[in-house]
Amino acid sequence: MLFQPPLPSRYAEMTQEQMADEITRRRRAIGRRLVILGHHYERDEVLRFADFTGDSLKLSQIAAEQTDAEFVVFCGVHFMAESADILTDDSVRVILPDISAGCSMADMADLDQLEEAWRFLADATTQTIAPITYVNSAATIKAFCGRHGGACCTSGNAQPILEWALKHGDKVIFLPDQHLGRNTAYAMGINLSQMVLYDPELPDGGLSTEQARSARIILWKGYCSVHSLFTVEQCDHIRRVDPDCRIVVHPECPWEVVQKADLAGSTEFIIKAIAESPAGSRWAVGTETHLVNRLAGRHLDKQVRSLAGVQCLCTTMYRIDLGHLLWVLDELSAGRMTNRVIVPPDVRDDALVALERMLKNVPSQPQAAKPPSPDNSPRSTQRPQS
Ligand code: 13P
Ligand code: SF4
Repeated sequence: MLFQPPLPSRYAEMTQEQMADEITRRRRAIGRRLVILGHHYERDEVLRFADFTGDSLKLSQIAAEQTDAEFVVFCGVHFMAESADILTDDSVRVILPDISAGCSMADMADLDQLEEAWRFLADATTQTIAPITYVNSAATIKAFCGRHGGACCTSGNAQPILEWALKHGDKVIFLPDQHLGRNTAYAMGINLSQMVLYDPELPDGGLSTEQARSARIILWKGYCSVHSLFTVEQCDHIRRVDPDCRIVVHPECPWEVVQKADLAGSTEFIIKAIAESPAGSRWAVGTETHLVNRLAGRHLDKQVRSLAGVQCLCTTMYRIDLGHLLWVLDELSAGRMTNRVIVPPDVRDDALVALERMLKNVPSQPQAAKPPSPDNSPRSTQRPQS
């Protein structure tokens, strides 16, 4: 994790209103040279300053379209700012208001580990392997995938990307999120017995040569600390106390939880599903707390609550506050650029290949990662109405 030095003391002395007023003034002065992007897990007071909000997929697409802006301030986490830097021209400078805003899942895969895994797999099998990385990963991991015929994916397009990868390779190594990989492959009809878990902390990932050879999907043993808080017991509890309440979860949740849910999909998918449901609907939502609270406030004619009894907070997204946003804008106004995120050119070129392969394969609508239930029960096959 990169270290963010404390802000100058003047920011601690300002009220939220004063900071919001100053941000408004600074934005006006900088004008169209500045674009602010905000992920759905950001705090409301920060998100209201975003020119565009979205899930990782939408924000990547929007970043790629920024040709006129000089500065993109990314209210999100480090891997998102890296992707924006990779996808934009050199003339666009990407800034992360708090440089310590990382992602614990992205930190679960580093390049040395992936190269070791690749050597093991190359020794174990002559089959072709496509490396697919969730965008929640370091730029060096994306670059590896670009170099080796693979691609990136997000929670909004994992299925078409995995389908594409299996057309181009005999098998896939999917990293760093085992849950997104498992949920997506299962939704495509791939049996759990065709998937193995590669643990980068163990010699040979803890796999025998035979396991590596026979698996169709090799899942990296990474996970999101926020979405791992959702459990089967919570789903069972909701079913018991409120059988008509619908459960929608993010596909970073464990497979067992996704199986219990009615729907699973990216943050954009969750927002759409709830927005399009009829008044009076009740929802239990398995994703980050800021998004759940925002949806509850936005849909007062529906009941929206967290699937968990505890607040599932992404503490790194939470690092971006009004003080840090104002600080980077103050610095820009003074002609200085702080917290610029730059991906080195050699990494950038290969990472761009992986991101562009993803962007060429994306569907136009957010995708659900939940398969139709084998018994075709109406609850499990419901989809948001269009
Ligand atoms: P989305 O792409 O669905 O917004 O997810 C990003 C993320 O980090 C979820 O943990
Ligand atoms: Fe990373 Fe999980 Fe936070 Fe998303 S919610 S940024 S995967 S730690």
